[in-house]
Amino acid sequence: MDANSPEAITSLRQLSAGEQACTRCPLYRDATQAVPGQGPSRATFMLVGEQPGDKEDLAGKPFVGPAGRVLDQALHDAGIARDEAYVTNAVKHFKHEMRGKRRLHKRPNAYEIERCKIWLDAERKLIAPAAIIALGVTAAHSLTGKTVTIGKMRGQPLRLADGTQLFVTVHPSSLLRIEDEADKRY
Ligand code: URA
Repeated sequence: MDANSPEAITSLRQLSAGEQACTRCPLYRDATQAVPGQGPSRATFMLVGEQPGDKEDLAGKPFVGPAGRVLDQALHDAGIARDEAYVTNAVKHFKHEMRGKRRLHKRPNAYEIERCKIWLDAERKLIAPAAIIALGVTAAHSLTGKTVTIGKMRGQPLRLADGTQLFVTVHPSSLLRIEDEADKRY
């Protein structure tokens, strides 16, 4: 068995090495690096976002940019310390297109989500969280295997096949967009 294959992985360090070596879909080609999850290996809560953004791609850490600040505030409001939660993404490489010199986020497609799911599954096996919070449609799609509507699932306690509690909510970036629109009206 390949040392980087998900079945051979028994630690977060090995998992990160496997993700860095991943060529299962083309997204690795234009990304700086894979962005592994971050947090304690015995975390009670696992938060799953969509994919790293521009800042995360450069830093190699999840949710360190603008969406991360919204997430930090939401966790603070919920009484959860960020460093007690395990924070990761459904897709580990930054998908983007160039607009001039800017790298603009592009949503991963069903194929890319599916190809990356082995890494999320490996993370779930290692961390074994009591509850997973899916942030947005990509995470909910990866975790449930279904195309989902956030409005219908939001706030409902659900169970994954292995019994893990699942909550689905909006992606922090969508809140940023609402705030921007509100700002524009002032
Ligand atoms: N958005 C995500 O979904 N994940 C990140 O890590 C950053 C922004």
